[in-house]
Amino acid sequence: MDFYSPHIFRSNKLDRFSPRSRRLGTDISTFPSLLNEAATALHSSPIAKTPPHILPIGVGFICWGADLSTALFGADAGGHGLAQSSSIITLLPECADALAKDGYGDITLIATGGIVDGRGVAAASTLGASGVCMGTRFFASPEAAIGEGYRNAIVDAKDGGVATARTTVYDRLRGTVGWPETYNGRGVLNQSFRDHAHGMSEDESKKLYEGAMKLGDREWGDNGRMTTYAGTGVGLIHRVLPAGDIVREVLKDSRDSLVRAGSNL
Ligand SMILES: Cc1cc2nc3c(=O)[nH]c(=O)nc-3n(C[C@H](O)[C@H](O)[C@H](O)COP(=O)(O)O)c2cc1C
Repeated sequence: MDFYSPHIFRSNKLDRFSPRSRRLGTDISTFPSLLNEAATALHSSPIAKTPPHILPIGVGFICWGADLSTALFGADAGGHGLAQSSSIITLLPECADALAKDGYGDITLIATGGIVDGRGVAAASTLGASGVCMGTRFFASPEAAIGEGYRNAIVDAKDGGVATARTTVYDRLRGTVGWPETYNGRGVLNQSFRDHAHGMSEDESKKLYEGAMKLGDREWGDNGRMTTYAGTGVGLIHRVLPAGDIVREVLKDSRDSLVRAGSNL
């Protein structure tokens, strides 16, 4: 594995664990002790209906650029990933072939990056994926703990290949540090991005960014300055739906797409 970035995610019910719910970056040396602390905190302050031996927190690992990974991140993905990367449409079969050649053909492959609807899921499964991971699509759900402005920016953006870009500009403006130079993050283009392209100094842009942070929801979107990490799939997202409905709709549409494609053969 080249690089990984573990996170301990906080469940909504676990605010008291928030000091431990931070991103660990690339340093996992503190990981076991954080888990132990979380276990001790849970023991002294149990949560109703949670078995004592189960930690009710998620521990997520991003395996960006991992040599052997089950999750394959295509270049269309929202948020951070390798700057030099391909779309899932070539990445997945090439990785599957390479894994099979080395005797790892039974590894489960999860496709991610640009998949926001049933057609994307159907495509991923025909490429050889056993499952998909969707990020951007769920930003257009009430369950996503983001500002209304962020959610609106996802729904309003059209033509994701043009409306988003992979860049480090947004990281620098919001002080997100720790990613290796070979990584950047895809976000919706906005005034901060255009100012950078037109040569505005980073100090000036940061000042404006900090001012925008105080202004609320209108500072997201095309005319705003706030960082809106999202994938190229934004152009396919037209409304906010509860997460459960998204999953049901995507599953049904993916089956329909596969049947339709099969009947066209
Ligand atoms: C704002 C944002 C934050 C993300 N944060 C994380 C994260 O903390 N851990 C992680 O594994 N992936 C993270 N991702 C990546 C998603 O899990 C997912 O792989 C990616 O969004 C998939 O591409 P899609 O957005 O085109 O669906 C993030 C994505 C976005 C858009």
